Amino acid sequence: MENSRFLRACRRLPVDCTPVWMMRQAGRYLPEYRALREQHSFWEMCKTPELATEVTLQPLRRFDLDAAIIFSDILVPVEAMGAPFEFIESRGPVLEAPVRTAAAVERLRVVEARETVPFVMEAIRLLRRELDGRVPLIGFSGAPFTLASYLVEGAGSKQYQHVKTMMYAAPDIFHTLMRKITEVVISYLDAQVEAGAQVFQLFDSWVGCLNRDDYREYVFPYNQRIFRALAGRGVPMIHFANQAATLLDLVRDAGGDIIGLDWRIDLDTAWEIVGPDRGVQGNIDPILLFAPVETIRNRTARIIRQADGRPGHIFNLGHGILPTTPIDHAKALIDAVHELSAR
Ligand code: CP3
Repeated sequence: MENSRFLRACRRLPVDCTPVWMMRQAGRYLPEYRALREQHSFWEMCKTPELATEVTLQPLRRFDLDAAIIFSDILVPVEAMGAPFEFIESRGPVLEAPVRTAAAVERLRVVEARETVPFVMEAIRLLRRELDGRVPLIGFSGAPFTLASYLVEGAGSKQYQHVKTMMYAAPDIFHTLMRKITEVVISYLDAQVEAGAQVFQLFDSWVGCLNRDDYREYVFPYNQRIFRALAGRGVPMIHFANQAATLLDLVRDAGGDIIGLDWRIDLDTAWEIVGPDRGVQGNIDPILLFAPVETIRNRTARIIRQADGRPGHIFNLGHGILPTTPIDHAKALIDAVHELSAR
């Protein structure tokens, strides 16, 4: 397994061709996923190890993917801290009570993931057995700022008004919130690795709304603490920050063996910033999967040229695959990556 294409690339070792997976590869663009979702709620799927295992495996039956990612949501451990969500179709999880005051932050519990979300670890153990060494399994967590944003906003947001107001107007409350989330994230990722996750990815999907000074002050110390705490666990760590082209050097310094890129920056420019001692993951625009296959192949070739055979490139979308994506185009992308990068 240590010799898999994916884990070798994570360690910046030479590979026969570039490994590829897709963020949100288990999800609504697959009819077999939608069929299961008609019978079960989203949270039920996240919390039932057999269902999470089945959904994780679905895309691997269709495509020649180089890794599996445990099916779950970034909000699973947050709910366990004492912030219940309601899942509203076509909108997503909505917090029953947004966390906006010192008292609300005080009430959040710093939980031990092994005790509060054991179903995630059970799904990981099941998956390792099912995968039986075929491809490595990726664990994941939301990063503290992204999770804090969801808790304070209470749902998805365009402006991040409430969380940034807390940051600027009540920094002590914000820092307390970040400290608590950070401890939970460490416990959660540590438990996933212990259960069998062979790599993990920290998703900082929303951090791109911050400037560099704010990133340094409000985000960097927490992300750095997570990577330092888990560095000794022996698994490669992927640090994905979305819309973060202006923050990339800071993201790299916060930690991670592989830096995940969105599509807004050229891969070669990004790798210059990240430096030769880290790998990079990315970075095709998920919307390109709606273009003709020829265009998908051309853009894939361009990214592979930008990587220029350097060890440590993992191919991925710049963010999650969209529910309306044509499946044959997803397959065309994955096959194109392998074909066009074959050494
Ligand atoms: O790559 C992966 O497969 C990892 C799993 C993952 C999911 N969501 C699964 C999911 C990750 C990393 C997320 C991220 C996430 N989830 C964020 C960060 C922003 C981002 O997009 O990266 C946020 C804010 C959430 C909360 C959430 N969960 C929302 C807003 C929604 C509904 C809208 C949407 O984009 O789907 C979900 C549902 C969700 N999370 C689904 C999946 C596969 C779809 C569930 C369904 O309706 O069947």
